[in-house]
Amino acid sequence: MSMRVRIGVVFAVLLGLCLPVVGQSAGRRESRIGGYGYRESADFVVKRLGLRRNSVVVDIGAGDGWWSSKMVAKLGPKGVIHAGEVDQKKVDAMKTKWADLKQIKPYLCPTDGTGLETDSCDLAFLSKTYHHLNKDGHVAYLKHLKEVVKPSGKLVIIERHQALASGRGAEHAWLPGLLGHQAEEAGWMMLRCELIPGSDHFMATFVQPEAFAKAFAKRREAAEKKKAAKENKPPEEKNAAEEKKAPPE
Ligand SMILES: C[S@@+](CC[C@H](N)C(=O)[O-])C[C@H]1O[C@@H](n2cnc3c(N)ncnc32)[C@H](O)[C@@H]1O
Repeated sequence: MSMRVRIGVVFAVLLGLCLPVVGQSAGRRESRIGGYGYRESADFVVKRLGLRRNSVVVDIGAGDGWWSSKMVAKLGPKGVIHAGEVDQKKVDAMKTKWADLKQIKPYLCPTDGTGLETDSCDLAFLSKTYHHLNKDGHVAYLKHLKEVVKPSGKLVIIERHQALASGRGAEHAWLPGLLGHQAEEAGWMMLRCELIPGSDHFMATFVQPEAFAKAFAKRREAAEKKKAAKENKPPEEKNAAEEKKAPPE
């Protein structure tokens, strides 16, 4: 075998050994982005939730309770996270895993609702669960959440962006536009929708328009009262008030 042929054979063998490694790391990178890569931006997500101490959260489709465990510190010892799951094994696993975090309350929830009372939560949180909800039951589920979440509360939904996903990933994804329509139909108002940095997942935040309408109505009423009071003042009172305002000569 000539020297050239020998070098060629060695090169081919080395290339053969290296390719699977390169392929594996590319695959790992892909699954990190598409799979649970969004978890790496947990700080970003939790900050955006704007959680307050003593709040009550429902984490729907909590899975292993990872997100519940990230939220808990913001709520303080009196906060509560109802970690809802439809899978009893996951509920049991969460009970064991988070036994030290008393604020996390894993429970078996129905598939068509949270089973929680009206106005009992400050935040409804669904991470990669929305696409699992019953087919054609999304708007009804969002209407139910409007009942469960207090008027001042929020709804946050994380999903993989369907337009950025491919293959099987696209089956476990959703379109933000479709979600926006469904949420609006259910009576929610979109506050913002953004991509989670470093991932192909988006995070949509919704509020209840009634809460804003009430606040605006109050402000309008106060402004109108003030204006009316100014207009109805007797002239002497008006002059006295204006004299008071005038700078000393
Ligand atoms: C992809 S996992 C997401 C887990 C976790 N939220 C996360 O982001 O890591 C979806 C979870 O939703 C649960 N699930 C499916 N349908 C549900 C429903 N109707 N209500 C509540 N949970 C549901 C599944 O059992 C599963 O654990």
